[in-house]
Amino acid sequence: MRYLTAGESHGPQLTTILEGLPAQIPLLESDVNAWLARRQLGYGRGRRMQIEKDTVEFLSGIRAGRTTGAPITLKIENSDHKNWTEIMDVNPGNEPRKKALTAARPGHADLVGGMKYRHKDLRDVLERASARETASRVAVGAICLKLLEALGVEGANFVDRLGGISSSVPFGWDALEIIENSPVRCLDKNAETQMIAKIDHAKENGDTLGGVLEIRFRGLVPGLGSYSHWDRKLDGRIGQAIMATQAVKGVEIGHGFDNADQPGSSVHDAIFYRDSSAAKGAYDRNTNGAGGLEAGMTNGEELIVRVALKPIATLMKPLPTVDVVTHEAADAARERSDTTAVPAAGIIFQCVIAIVLAEAYLEKFGCDTLPEMLERLEEYKKFIATY
Ligand SMILES: Cc1cc2nc3c(=O)[nH]c(=O)nc-3n(C[C@H](O)[C@H](O)[C@H](O)COP(=O)(O)O)c2cc1C
Repeated sequence: MRYLTAGESHGPQLTTILEGLPAQIPLLESDVNAWLARRQLGYGRGRRMQIEKDTVEFLSGIRAGRTTGAPITLKIENSDHKNWTEIMDVNPGNEPRKKALTAARPGHADLVGGMKYRHKDLRDVLERASARETASRVAVGAICLKLLEALGVEGANFVDRLGGISSSVPFGWDALEIIENSPVRCLDKNAETQMIAKIDHAKENGDTLGGVLEIRFRGLVPGLGSYSHWDRKLDGRIGQAIMATQAVKGVEIGHGFDNADQPGSSVHDAIFYRDSSAAKGAYDRNTNGAGGLEAGMTNGEELIVRVALKPIATLMKPLPTVDVVTHEAADAARERSDTTAVPAAGIIFQCVIAIVLAEAYLEKFGCDTLPEMLERLEEYKKFIATY
């Protein structure tokens, strides 16, 4: 499976081609739209999220509500483009263009992107580096989540820390509705109130906030990924996919950084042999310090991925910078911006990990159609139940 995303933040549309999915996966545009809508929510977002009402249009690879096995083309229009037609015009003319950006924003691609591709209007960099691109990845992830759902896999995401405020309520699968109804996707109501106050305070001060998110998947069979070669290790592939998402500065499997301070006896998960009815087979653990991955493979326990998101780099009280045309000191450019994207980021990460997991299932059980894939999965489950 592979996919390619294209499109500028204020261009006419985002275009994505996804190739390699089996035929016969039930799929409606509304399945993807539900995830696109969730990506736009969250307390602390800027005005852009009110302008865009993202919806997908399937242009190929799907017919009568099912994948055909052919490449899938996805189109998401940028509603804001109508206000940017002259600025984004693909033809020469209109120079110098309105909204040219020359005061490079620290923490963004602007300065080095301008050097690398020889742009002096840093809008040429910003337009593609923008996290608007994550809408494409969410669309692909939403499709992969449909496949995973058919394979008996379920995911969740929530905010553990925001602006230094920590949730102290442990996650449970019965709490999905609480997370969904929380404006900051936090389980802890007390922490939620403090997080919202902190976001309001940051906004008043022209500042921004980051945080830590947790993403979980359950129902994964043991043996996805591989120990046999570095680029097939699932932890490495999840790390790459998450680190390649805008504003991510750290990834942890399970409680990786806390585990580093503990003795091995309290970190590693003893193995027991119990009953053979569970999807993961007869082998069981009482603990999950490994976060569901051992030696680059799923071990049948819940997958736990934690992600650190930096504070938004565009500050309304801008940091000092340099204008790349005049070389004079300047205030960093202030593009319309979020105060925090932490709550929305969990939606993106769940989708991004779903893409990696779907690829791993296709590698292990890969087939032309979903029914054949399900047959092979059942055979494998029968085998591991007797192993
Ligand atoms: C959901 C989401 C929304 C974002 N919104 C903004 C934003 O409004 N303003 C901004 O300056 N950065 C925003 N970012 C982060 C930047 O895109 C990112 O920090 C920048 O492209 C530099 O890349 P890096 O942080 O990965 O090094 C957002 C990131 C995510 C995940």
